Amino acid sequence: MPRISLEDTELNVLDQGHGPTVLLVHGFPVDHRMWRKQTATLSQTHRVIAPDLRGFGESPATTGVISMTQFADDLADLLEQMEVAEPIVFCGLSMGGYIAWQFAHHYPEKLRGLILCDTKATADSEAAVATRHDVAEKVIADGPEFLSKSMPSKIFSNHSRAEHPELVEFVQQMIRDASPNGIAAASWGMSLRPDMTELLPTISVATLVVVGEDDELTSPSEMQTIAESIPNGKAVVVPQAGHMAPLEQPAIVNDAIINFLQSL
Ligand code: MLT
Repeated sequence: MPRISLEDTELNVLDQGHGPTVLLVHGFPVDHRMWRKQTATLSQTHRVIAPDLRGFGESPATTGVISMTQFADDLADLLEQMEVAEPIVFCGLSMGGYIAWQFAHHYPEKLRGLILCDTKATADSEAAVATRHDVAEKVIADGPEFLSKSMPSKIFSNHSRAEHPELVEFVQQMIRDASPNGIAAASWGMSLRPDMTELLPTISVATLVVVGEDDELTSPSEMQTIAESIPNGKAVVVPQAGHMAPLEQPAIVNDAIINFLQSL
């Protein structure tokens, strides 16, 4: 996979297929491989660009705090370096969705459509901020193993955990592969992210909202409210899926994405 140099770092990037560009932005604390069930299908008709964000997968980490805006700036820079001039469809899951709000806010001219999977527009509660800080400190002290153990019960549906242990193992491996500094920097960055609900009515591009019906972190009702707040927004609730809907129910999610892309 190519590595693309940015101003102060470089990103490991999957770049596959031809056609209008779809940018796939992974969640926390995994990497571009979480889209492995989307890339082959979508790249039949589109150019799929799926980077490892700073500090995840094989992209080097920067220490300190990485804000959601910094990640969005990295992606705008990445598209420039890859000479993608036309507006793109930005598809982000969870933290990838937090980054999507910043991208939509700072680079509206670069957007052709938005796909938001299992995410939210609100800021963290005080308790959530405290947890982020604990996670950041613990991952630097102990490494990511504790997260690989604690996250599956929160991010997969009961159905996926019972029927697809290989998915759980796959996500655990991605978490173990992430750099402690990268996880900590993103954790601090997420704790500082602003409430973006006021942005929603100003989004002018068509937007698809995808959420697992059993998502405990970003609930279907919260995501339906997001879709209703965006003028050209539409929600799809995915059965037998949790917070990792694209990985858990790829056929349903891919159909929803393809229908959406064809409608643009
Ligand atoms: C993610 O999947 O990116 C995380 O659940 C985001 C978060 O911790 O808020």
